[in-house]
Amino acid sequence: MVEKVKLTIDGIEMEVDKGTTVLEAARDVGIEIPTLCHLKGVCESSSCRVCVVEVGPRLIASCTLKAEPNMKIQTNTKKVRDARRTVVELLLSDHNRECTTCNRSESCELQSVSKDLNVRTIRFQGAKSKTGIDHSSASIVRDSEKCILCGRCIGACSNIQTVHAIGFAHRGFETKVTTAYDRPIGETSCVNCGQCISACPVGALTERDNTHDVWKALSDPTKYV
Ligand code: FES
Repeated sequence: MVEKVKLTIDGIEMEVDKGTTVLEAARDVGIEIPTLCHLKGVCESSSCRVCVVEVGPRLIASCTLKAEPNMKIQTNTKKVRDARRTVVELLLSDHNRECTTCNRSESCELQSVSKDLNVRTIRFQGAKSKTGIDHSSASIVRDSEKCILCGRCIGACSNIQTVHAIGFAHRGFETKVTTAYDRPIGETSCVNCGQCISACPVGALTERDNTHDVWKALSDPTKYV
């Protein structure tokens, strides 16, 4: 028999199975908490911090916070909203914001969370940590300037597909998602499964659009000789 835990979220008393996270408990009763890095079973690194909630005087990421007996949680106070907005502004400050031409526009989770949090200005400006687009793969385009370092692609590649073609390298501002020896993705063990694209919350990983190559080939009859 599973042990139960009683807690209160936004004044709602509930009982959940021991081991349930605060995020899951909240969502079970219809309380929405934004997430970016969390993808259950794929990536549970708790790295983005956009899911913070207030527990007493502290702000804690709800996606990995396990429900404890008599916990009292607030998910939508000014302190929580301000913290989430700051997190999103920091992510956007190091993000290529060419949203109008990005093929994830309108399906981008960062864009959606920004809208929900009413982010209208970005207070933080400065150097960009990542540059360059990797076109080396037959099927995947990696745009590191849009990467928010959530780790979901790494989780999909390593934990689900067990291919381990990509991983984190370096620390702090230099942190990036890369391949062994920093080689282009097309020269690695990547099997072109596309799971990393499905896991990516933004436009950092997209399917290669070969339309242009096809039209070029069609307009050149010598290609069919
Ligand atoms: Fe919880 Fe990213 S969703 S830390």
